[in-house]
Amino acid sequence: MALVFLRWVSRLLMVLIVIQGVCVMFYYTRDTHSSRDGTTESLQLLRCNKLRSKFSVIKAAKSIKLESFTQDLSDFMSCPYESNTSQRELYRAKLQVCCNATGTLFLTKRNTAINQTVPYEKSTTKTYTMTEAIHSMLPEDLPWSARGLGRCAVVGSGGILKNSSCGREIDSADFVIRFNLASINDSDVGLKTDLVTINPSQIRYKNLERNPDPLVERVSVYGNAFLVMPAFAYTFCTRQSIKTLRVLHPIRPQQPLVFFSPIYLRTLDRFWKGRGLKSIRLSTGFMLISTALELCENVHVYGFWPFGTDLQNNSVPYHYYDELKPHRYMHKMPDEFVRLLQLHSQGALTLHLQPCKDL
Ligand SMILES: *[C@@H]1O[C@H](CO)[C@@H](O)[C@H](O)[C@H]1NC(C)=O
Ligand SMILES: *[C@@H]1O[C@H](CO)[C@@H](O)[C@H](O)[C@H]1NC(C)=O
Ligand SMILES: *[C@@H]1O[C@H](CO)[C@@H](O)[C@H](O)[C@H]1NC(C)=O
Ligand SMILES: *[C@@H]1O[C@H](CO)[C@@H](O)[C@H](O)[C@H]1NC(C)=O
Ligand SMILES: *[C@@H]1O[C@H](CO)[C@@H](O)[C@H](O)[C@H]1NC(C)=O
Ligand SMILES: *[C@@H]1O[C@H](CO)[C@@H](O)[C@H](O)[C@H]1NC(C)=O
Repeated sequence: MALVFLRWVSRLLMVLIVIQGVCVMFYYTRDTHSSRDGTTESLQLLRCNKLRSKFSVIKAAKSIKLESFTQDLSDFMSCPYESNTSQRELYRAKLQVCCNATGTLFLTKRNTAINQTVPYEKSTTKTYTMTEAIHSMLPEDLPWSARGLGRCAVVGSGGILKNSSCGREIDSADFVIRFNLASINDSDVGLKTDLVTINPSQIRYKNLERNPDPLVERVSVYGNAFLVMPAFAYTFCTRQSIKTLRVLHPIRPQQPLVFFSPIYLRTLDRFWKGRGLKSIRLSTGFMLISTALELCENVHVYGFWPFGTDLQNNSVPYHYYDELKPHRYMHKMPDEFVRLLQLHSQGALTLHLQPCKDL
């Protein structure tokens, strides 16, 4: 009886040993397998974190060596994006206190009175007195509620948008901002437009009052999007802007033409100057990205790329829609880009520099 029991126990032990052996083998194969993946994964993560902290520190664009910079940037852009809600809220709060796009981005009937003295963004001596006629053509109020906007796409004019296939992704945003009446199409840059800026120098139509059709045709491409002009940035902007308003207001009442508040632009300029951006004037693109940081839940930035070659070292035009060269004396595009990269690595906005995958 005892013998049978012993034999039974030893057999059980052997079975247990075999099972354990199999388990150990299985365990080891599994472990070596996953640890190999784990090593590359954690190396990648380490590199991503290193690049993230590298790019979240501001450097002067002058010190950038483009080749090593684009290599690092290309690697970083393949890293998973890390959004930081508290960072976003911090920028939103700071921008609201300093500049208040929510209540003052454009001149409206609500924030501007008849006969009010309107200062200029860039002139300390000249002012404009708001006439009753122009006041009657200002919008009642700003087009967003205090709740703000959802996902916003800010679409710059950078040549990297050529062949990017980003149109569908951009069009899926809740609010789309564009610049300088840039051309739109469904494949690369999208069609949806909620706000588009006009540079006064773009209004070069002969006899605009008598023959407004070419201008009307040009702006109706954007549906009912807000058209925005910097009427009170420089004194030379005012005449063209007001003429454009007088012409378009009766013809396209469903598509408001509005003027940036010079005080908003001036305080925003001061905000970024205080943080080291010392250009003569911020680019309109950078201004409206800042606006979006205040107004939007999420900000996605496309087509902002100030360099002549892309991340794959292909040459890219400066604009996606023309052959123009940059005005180097005016905006500090590479400095602004470094700032955008910083905001991206901090998780405050998402910068898109690569072609888009199909949705
Ligand atoms: C998110 O941003 C806040 C505010 O700048 C910072 O304190 C925090 O460390 C950030 N979180 C991560 C995970 O980076
Ligand atoms: C922003 O401007 C609006 C309209 O002028 C005003 O009602 C609101 O209190 C302002 N908000 C801040 C934070 O200053
Ligand atoms: C604006 O100023 C003009 C000329 O001084 C005056 O006739 C008019 O009543 C003023 N309008 C308002 C609303 O204050
Ligand atoms: C875009 O694609 C077209 C046709 O595929 C090609 O000829 C052109 O060189 C591309 N442009 C850029 C900027 O990549
Ligand atoms: C990028 O292209 C330029 C000129 O075509 C070449 O000299 C350079 O070596 C290339 N750089 C890389 C990293 O491929
Ligand atoms: C979209 O616009 C870009 C830039 O103007 C142009 O290169 C591209 O060919 C256009 N695509 C279509 C489908 O019209």
